[in-house]
Amino acid sequence: MLHARLAELATFGATAEGIDRPLFSAAEHAARARFTAWAATAGLSVEQDRVGNVFARLAGREPGPPVQCGSHLDTVRNGGAYDGAYGVVGGLAALERIAASGEPPKRALEAVAWAGEEGSRFPLGCLGSSVYAGLTTYDEVALLVGDDGAVFADAVRGPHGLLAQIPVRDGCAAPAAYLELHIEQGPVLEARGVRLGVVTAIAGQRRLQVTIEGTAGHAGTIPMTDRADALCAASELVLTLERAARAVSDAVATVGMLNVDPNQTNIVPGRVVFRVDIRAVDDARVLEIERLLREAAAAIAPIRRVQVRVEGLEARAAVPMDGRLREIVRAACRPLDPHAIDIASGAGHDAMCVAHVAPAAMIFVPSIGGRSHVGDERTAPADLELGVNALAAALRAVAEAC
Ligand code: GLV
Ligand code: MN
Ligand code: MN
Repeated sequence: MLHARLAELATFGATAEGIDRPLFSAAEHAARARFTAWAATAGLSVEQDRVGNVFARLAGREPGPPVQCGSHLDTVRNGGAYDGAYGVVGGLAALERIAASGEPPKRALEAVAWAGEEGSRFPLGCLGSSVYAGLTTYDEVALLVGDDGAVFADAVRGPHGLLAQIPVRDGCAAPAAYLELHIEQGPVLEARGVRLGVVTAIAGQRRLQVTIEGTAGHAGTIPMTDRADALCAASELVLTLERAARAVSDAVATVGMLNVDPNQTNIVPGRVVFRVDIRAVDDARVLEIERLLREAAAAIAPIRRVQVRVEGLEARAAVPMDGRLREIVRAACRPLDPHAIDIASGAGHDAMCVAHVAPAAMIFVPSIGGRSHVGDERTAPADLELGVNALAAALRAVAEAC
């Protein structure tokens, strides 16, 4: 069931190179609708909230806030079949296993599909969980403009926004605890020969947008000494950023998006906009890399006769996972993999937002070749199953402990 569901979701938004399922696209809407249908068939009650988060609930023996698990159904462009989808489908499978055991959990359990974790359409990562946790207001996200020009407030009300006929939950009460199951997305578990990882902390991240205004002109006539080439200035900054991240250590920095204007072979580039993603578990390292980038921007601008603007798009501090919850998760993982290890997450996850309102922890399974955010993302089927068993055991233990 787990594998068939993941395989079916992988067809939604399939491209020649991977999966393209941005928030409130037809494919992402179809994935949310499918999750909802599976949950309803499993006898779970389903609700959504006004940003598009979907909650599938298994009733508990006692009243009180639920223990949640979940992840996201949107993908990056040409992404893989497991990033996010595994945590949602795996969360649902864990609830189904617990329901089938005939012993209802003490606390209600919810499997959540958080809206727009990747930030691949609207410029805010962990959008749904961020609003849920009160880190961003609905009014702020309502104004966000997607990379296709769509405004969030219109998209959420559009044909691929909220699901028809699913009740809209009023308010966002904090869960009693939150567990997220995810593929590692890096090479560590595979290299160490272990099958389960207990996450210690999620790296902090900073996203910036750099705009360089130079002077466009004829590529054949403007002497090299008279140019204000925005792309040459951008190139210097991109390489400065790489050097800074290497020098600071235990930090990473990426320019994954760069637009050249007018982007024509015989025109000196007049304008370049690029985005920067900086991450480290130690927030001071992120700030240091940003400082080095801004310093280089200020130095390069007069030399290259361009104007450089550096704007912050998003900042999230590193988030440690809850100590007591990690102990419970470790105890649940150990019988399934005695070699399970502690591991830090370089990738961002919805858990980093939910952790602001409830104790949160994460379980990782290995990624083959450490590949993720690419179409050939893979995890061994037996490891996917093991992760769900670990999640089910941990959910049950946490639901009793709350
Ligand atoms: C999301 O996957 C991120 O870490 O950017
Ligand atoms: Mn993810
Ligand atoms: Mn991702």
